[in-house]
Amino acid sequence: MNPEATLEEARDQIDSCADHAALKEVERHYLGRKGVVAAALAGIGALPPEQRKQAGQGANRVKQAIQELVDARAEVLDAAALESERSGAGFDPSLPPARLETGSLHPITQVTRELEDLFLSMGYAVLDGPEVELDHYNFEALNIPKDHPARDSHDTFFCDDDGGLVMRTHTSPVQVRAMEQLEPPFRVIAPGRCFRQETTDASHDHTFYQMEGMVVGRDISVGHLIGAMRTLLRGIFERDLDVRLRPGYFPFVEPGFELDARCPFCEDGCSVCKRTTWIELLPCGLVHPNVLSAGGIDPEKWSGFAFGLGLSRLAMLRYGIDDVRHLFGGDLRFLEQF
Ligand code: PHE
Repeated sequence: MNPEATLEEARDQIDSCADHAALKEVERHYLGRKGVVAAALAGIGALPPEQRKQAGQGANRVKQAIQELVDARAEVLDAAALESERSGAGFDPSLPPARLETGSLHPITQVTRELEDLFLSMGYAVLDGPEVELDHYNFEALNIPKDHPARDSHDTFFCDDDGGLVMRTHTSPVQVRAMEQLEPPFRVIAPGRCFRQETTDASHDHTFYQMEGMVVGRDISVGHLIGAMRTLLRGIFERDLDVRLRPGYFPFVEPGFELDARCPFCEDGCSVCKRTTWIELLPCGLVHPNVLSAGGIDPEKWSGFAFGLGLSRLAMLRYGIDDVRHLFGGDLRFLEQF
């Protein structure tokens, strides 16, 4: 191979390439595995020893030079293509870009934020509490001592051997933390994640969201509780719904209730209310004196009400979600609907 002649010839061919396909072809002809340069390198072994070094250097110089010519030509072709696209017919620079993917807030987040706004407008403060909680706050201070049968319904994830640390099974421990931190009178809500060691099915998951509410003041009565819950319902369903209270037992309230609301979706029974026209909305009650004491508040002077709203359940009601496991399944086909 005559290096100078080969390079000259390659240069002509490269310069006359009108597109990338032709350029690739020329590149392959010279630099490919079976190309001109490869053949020259392969032939070096057959030359007399004193010529080998020069022949090798020559071939490598040609190889490098051709590669540079090819790269330069590719850039020229790219620039020309862009130029003709810009100036040519059919290119509309005023077209909007391809639609960008945007995310959306998770349905639980949407419900939480709406309720936070609603309660803030009613003078409540929004509190946060730890998800890994001391037994004291999750149970003991809520009038649920170690041997209390109510612990049976809380299938707890214990975090250490002696059971002193648990994944909180409800948001109620924030009641006690609130009492320790705030001077009465006060109103607080505490939305957050809770955990129970559940066998999961369409209506139970090991991870779910609640929103605790607590009001402490002078002479707080069941009337105040009902009034607040009716306002809450109006905020959620955007109209007045009748409520009813059924007795419900929770060690940290006395009296304790299950509050039901008229089914917002039907007049005479549907699948949501299981044909009863009532939907079970939330447990609530007046704060037990023992709980006020545990929070450092004198039950002779102060009283209060508390409620626990199931946010996962509420989001399901609101959006007609039929399986709680969808909420944290991470399936985009589900999430994209919100
Ligand atoms: N913490 C209770 C639960 O998760 C609910 C509740 C909250 C009941 C506040 C009464 C008052 O089961």
